[in-house]
Amino acid sequence: MNNIDLPKDIINIMINKAKEARKNSYSPYSNFKVGAALLVDEEKQIIYSGCNIENAAYSPGNCAERTAVFKAVSEGYRSFKAIALVAGKDEETDEYVSPCGMCRQVLREFVNPKEFLVIMAKSEEDYIVYTLEELLPLSFGPDNLK
Ligand code: THU
Repeated sequence: MNNIDLPKDIINIMINKAKEARKNSYSPYSNFKVGAALLVDEEKQIIYSGCNIENAAYSPGNCAERTAVFKAVSEGYRSFKAIALVAGKDEETDEYVSPCGMCRQVLREFVNPKEFLVIMAKSEEDYIVYTLEELLPLSFGPDNLK
């Protein structure tokens, strides 16, 4: 667990937004419902949320994290501070869900991996926090193509 450079009230707001977004999860195939809340601007409390969206053809499905990132980027934001995640089967939120490899790479595009925080929550009181760098070490990013 890291030293968390985010106020507890912001973390609570993010976890709540992730829970709200999770209610919209479209996951009839896995029944695994995920909600994400991406912090864009701490001062202005700009947060984009997202849920997982599955598909009968399976591959076109999208994770909650990427839904949130794509919503934010499509609204003009390209720099993020943290993401909160809530997940579990059916109505439970009893798992600390860890972003899949593809979502880690999508997040990597828009953040400083040393500073960006991934908050995996079971509730407002029960969560673990990692930097993106811990989850995606030695990552490949925009700087590699300069
Ligand atoms: N899922 C997410 O939305 N985020 C994660 O971090 C892990 C997995 C979704 C994808 C799929 O709809 C379901 O959870 C089961 O894999």
